[in-house]
Amino acid sequence: METASTDSEFLERVLAAGTILVNIGDIDILLEQILTEARFFTNADAGSIYTVEGDVLSFCHSQNETIVARGERIPYTRFTIPKSKTSMAGYVACTGEILNIDDVRKIPVEAPYSFDDSYDKIAIYRTRSMLTLPLINNRQTVVGVLQLINARANQREFIPFHSTMELLGKYYATLGALALERAMMTRTLLMRMVNMTEFRDPKETGPHVNRVGSYSVAIYDSWAKANEVEETDRIHNRDVLRMAAMLHDVGKTGISDIILKKPDRLTSDERNTMEKHCFIGAEVLRNCESTFDEMARNIALSHHENWDGSGYPQGLKGDEIPFMARITAIADVFDALSSRRAYKDPWPDHLVTEEMEKLFVSKFDPDLKFHFTSQLEVLKEIMETYPEQ
Ligand SMILES: [Fe+2]
Ligand SMILES: [Fe+2]
Repeated sequence: METASTDSEFLERVLAAGTILVNIGDIDILLEQILTEARFFTNADAGSIYTVEGDVLSFCHSQNETIVARGERIPYTRFTIPKSKTSMAGYVACTGEILNIDDVRKIPVEAPYSFDDSYDKIAIYRTRSMLTLPLINNRQTVVGVLQLINARANQREFIPFHSTMELLGKYYATLGALALERAMMTRTLLMRMVNMTEFRDPKETGPHVNRVGSYSVAIYDSWAKANEVEETDRIHNRDVLRMAAMLHDVGKTGISDIILKKPDRLTSDERNTMEKHCFIGAEVLRNCESTFDEMARNIALSHHENWDGSGYPQGLKGDEIPFMARITAIADVFDALSSRRAYKDPWPDHLVTEEMEKLFVSKFDPDLKFHFTSQLEVLKEIMETYPEQ
């Protein structure tokens, strides 16, 4: 991780990070960014972020530079732990206090919390210092927990977190909590739109749209890094894409149940009607006032266009198809093939790969093939993160 070399650079980065956080709308992208920024400023080797959901803490995201430097991947999967004072994250969630522990293996036995070393054992990692901060909203409710692990003196040596880091961490936790509340509300509104679509088409489930949103971001990220897209643009685009891709089939709300729920093959008239869902989606999202509106509209309108011009509704070809719609098309088809539907079992991995290979010859943007195949492991982890209920 880069480090700020002078005081003014550091201050500049502090202020820039604040602006980035308050402008992120998607909750997953936001959680990842809060952790990235907080780790940067506290020079932490690793960290995790949780959201509080009723009686449990939901583990949302983790980062670990030592593990990444070893060429290994950090598990993407989510899990929950009880919101209880017996764990450090739980204690912070229950009390709203900051915990700054110099060495987690020397926590006094009388402390209400203890360190669970099971993750260290699995990951072959040694946690030493840990700074755990509550994300508190303006109604003084703890909405999340930020855990920073192993402050670094240099690349090799882990040291305790200095007390000034508590203050800086608190600043990010406060900014993060405010942004998190808004992002939670945005996600709820998006999911309501998705639920309305699901009433009409049972294939358009919450997990399906979450997977399509996350797959699209993984493919875009790979492309953006390879094409040296500027960091602030990349953060903005992945944020907007994560939300916009979720609404790819919102136009199905305007298609009759008789067609959407028909178990048999559609007649050509019915197929023509079905294909109108792209225009209807674009109509629903017609007021292009923000980058989100514009991207969501492009995706809803063009996610069934094909690279060779054989798609619908406009028969666009190649670069005429908006870039983010090309990415979402890959994500949507990959998910349709690899997940269970009422009428089919999930295809086995090798058949999904074979079919995607074929589609990259004519239907998908060939320049994105590498960015899809190189992300397959990530896509599989996303699949496990959002299983069908
Ligand atoms: Fe569609
Ligand atoms: Fe879909």
